[in-house]
Amino acid sequence: MTSPEHELVVGFYDAFAPDYDLAYGGNWESAVERQGKALDALIQDELAGARSVLDCSCGIGTQAIGLARRGYSVVGTDISERALERARNEAERLGVEASFAVADFRDLTCVPGRFDVVISCDNALPHLLEPADVPVAVTQMRSKLRPGGLLVITMRDFDEALREKAPLAPPAVVAGPPRRVLVRLHDWDDDRPCYTVRYLVLVEKDGGWDITEHTTRYRAVTRDELTGAAAFAGFREIRWPINRTVVGGQRVMIAINE
Ligand SMILES: C[S@@+](CC[C@H](N)C(=O)[O-])C[C@H]1O[C@@H](n2cnc3c(N)ncnc32)[C@H](O)[C@@H]1O
Repeated sequence: MTSPEHELVVGFYDAFAPDYDLAYGGNWESAVERQGKALDALIQDELAGARSVLDCSCGIGTQAIGLARRGYSVVGTDISERALERARNEAERLGVEASFAVADFRDLTCVPGRFDVVISCDNALPHLLEPADVPVAVTQMRSKLRPGGLLVITMRDFDEALREKAPLAPPAVVAGPPRRVLVRLHDWDDDRPCYTVRYLVLVEKDGGWDITEHTTRYRAVTRDELTGAAAFAGFREIRWPINRTVVGGQRVMIAINE
């Protein structure tokens, strides 16, 4: 399933893994706590008693570790080896048990078992530049759920993003020393609902700034598109509750395995 687009995503997250906390202004551990708490509340409201979770785009473990800390049995998978390596180290550092392995969410056959809950949080699906890959991925997520299991996906509000096409996301700053700044540029395509993300990581050094650039691509996946993919995959009760927040500023889709 590899392609130049796929390699770009893997390379981006491999290279950015050591700096990932920068996306949270250095307060990554607070995000782990906050998102774990929000997800736990959502999961228990929707599927009381749920205990096992597959996080199929876990990255460095923001949600996977947050849920494991709350007593869930968590398996985290991702395509970035470096992100998974950091997830393992963070889990160990925080005294949390969870297991992590490489898997592309377009093919989860290598992940054993079925889970009460499958999650994919913080804009992972929109890395799928080919629209046909979205129903494939959602079908794979469903294949890892027990009957009656719960799917939770969070992503940027792309219906709104498509209207605004903002060229910049708010910068993040870590006081340091050394001070570190993350600048996020969004260069939208003229002919497709896609954009190139440029992360500029600035680190203060000897009175000047070192700059590293990380680049990847996103496609604006709308609510209608993801709802259609979930229906195609065989989910029922597909909803976008407006009163739920897991990752700040993102919309949450939940669906039940038939
Ligand atoms: C913005 S990060 C979010 C990571 C994690 N959920 C968090 O909030 O820390 C998106 C993640 O999706 C992963 N990803 C992108 N495409 C994927 C795919 N086809 N299969 C599995 N993971 C993928 C990336 O490697 C990255 O770790």
